[in-house]
Amino acid sequence: MSGPNKSYDPVQVTPLNAESVEAMVAAALQAFAAATSVAELKQARAAHAADRSPIALANREIGALPPQARKDAGARIGQARGRINAALKEREAEVSADELSRMLVAERVDVTLPVELTPVGAVHPITALMDQMCDVFVAMGWEVAEGPELEAEWLNFDALNFIPDHPARTMQDTLFADPADGGIVLRTHTSPVQARTLLDRDLPVYVVCPGRVYRADEFDATHLPVFHQIEGLCVDKGITMGHLRGTLDAFARAMFGDVRTRMRPNFFPFTEPSAEVDLECYVCHGSSVGDPANPCRTCNSEGWIEWGGCGIVNPRVLQACGVDTDIYSGFAFGMGVDRTLMFRNNTADLRDTVEGDIRFSRSLAGTAR
Ligand code: PHE
Repeated sequence: MSGPNKSYDPVQVTPLNAESVEAMVAAALQAFAAATSVAELKQARAAHAADRSPIALANREIGALPPQARKDAGARIGQARGRINAALKEREAEVSADELSRMLVAERVDVTLPVELTPVGAVHPITALMDQMCDVFVAMGWEVAEGPELEAEWLNFDALNFIPDHPARTMQDTLFADPADGGIVLRTHTSPVQARTLLDRDLPVYVVCPGRVYRADEFDATHLPVFHQIEGLCVDKGITMGHLRGTLDAFARAMFGDVRTRMRPNFFPFTEPSAEVDLECYVCHGSSVGDPANPCRTCNSEGWIEWGGCGIVNPRVLQACGVDTDIYSGFAFGMGVDRTLMFRNNTADLRDTVEGDIRFSRSLAGTAR
């Protein structure tokens, strides 16, 4: 007669017998040893030490055993898990140290190597200055307009009221595209963009036109056959010389601080009346005039610096572009950008601006006032 079976039969609960547990530990240790990266070790941990690993599943079986067997199996599993976790921790430390040292080798920087000598470039001071000038006007709500450098003779001269035998139209002053009588010139100023703007845009217009211009001129310290201008044009109802004055003063102050402008009568075919714009010297404010002991290099002790031309747009220009001059009037101005750079940054030799030496650009980078 047999009594109740209280003894533990290891054969019936295979996952909990010593051999199986030992095999689980061995498999875990082997998998940990085989893992060579943090990612691989994470996988090995999932397979051999996490919630659904054989050892964790075996652990769940313990509760079903009779008391004595439960104690044995519990001790066995507990010990096995302890070994697995210790091995995992140890391997984790090894693998991450390994990975770190591999990374340090791979990302090593030899600080004794020579530095990269290829210059990375810099914004050209003329470009930077033109951008800065445009920004002043964009901030006042004006737009930027551009035109081509190879321009129709009609727009460069005729539309701007240059008479047919005006001296500027000769080969001596103007570069003609081949064939010379083909009616195409390298624009001699940015003023043709005035005509283009009036032909293209709806009124009123408030535009600035920065760009490169060409003249059959010398190439020396103070002349370039290729240089830059910025043109301004406003055409609206009731525009007067007063608006021009105010605009030029605002422009001057934005560029040079607390300075005024003045106008001297002049002649341009496309403006009437026309004037030269002078800028009050922003360095000496006129204090060097008649004081040889304190000369001013910026204005040559004249107190004023020639800056550009301006005037009220000649009605003939407006009419050539189809604008009703009974309703609209306007003003225009034009400044030399290279000239501005010269007196603003003491660039003594204009040739520096075209020679492409990065050191020139770098030396003026960030000198915006
Ligand atoms: N276009 C003129 C020049 O090149 C400058 C200018 C522009 C004058 C606009 C009056 C109005 O000298």
